[in-house]
Amino acid sequence: MKTVIAYYSYEGHTALVAGELAKLLDADRLRIETQDEKERTGLSKYLWGGKMVFTGKRPPLKPLALDARQYDLIVLGGPIWAGKPAPALLSFVDKAGIKDKKTAFFLCHLGGPGKAAESLSSALALSGTTVVGDIDLKNVTEGSLPALAERLSAWAERLRLVC
Ligand SMILES: Cc1cc2nc3c(=O)[nH]c(=O)nc-3n(C[C@H](O)[C@H](O)[C@H](O)COP(=O)(O)O)c2cc1C
Repeated sequence: MKTVIAYYSYEGHTALVAGELAKLLDADRLRIETQDEKERTGLSKYLWGGKMVFTGKRPPLKPLALDARQYDLIVLGGPIWAGKPAPALLSFVDKAGIKDKKTAFFLCHLGGPGKAAESLSSALALSGTTVVGDIDLKNVTEGSLPALAERLSAWAERLRLVC
């Protein structure tokens, strides 16, 4: 099974998970970057991100070096913003040319997942992919790293079985 982990990470949590999963699945990694990568902090970060979610904006991405034909499984990862998938994830779903592929996803958050999983699952299905799994990851840097690694390892095993 040839797998790529495509991930968007504004603050580093998703990037950490993507690194672990890439090892577990022996997968390639592709970082999704928006054209506006300016660092924001504090309230302005939440206002900026929240506005993008509430207005349904899909930020333009930097060119994606992804040839989806090479992969059996595309694992998409990113943060939850305002109870929805971070908009860059939806930009990726629109632009990446992943129709007819198997997909799975993981979402990182701080405890308010909202309907992000349902929303991303629908977007992936609407774009013609088959979603074979997802996992919800709360507070990834606060719990024990071995416990996180164990959950990821179990999820990776399930993905292998369904692919
Ligand atoms: C604009 C913005 C909105 C957020 N909204 C939520 C939210 O609705 N629920 C939640 O649990 N966490 C929310 N968070 C926290 C992130 O989901 C969490 O810190 C995640 O681990 C960040 O992943 P990253 O480090 O890969 O960017 C938000 C963060 C930002 C920047």
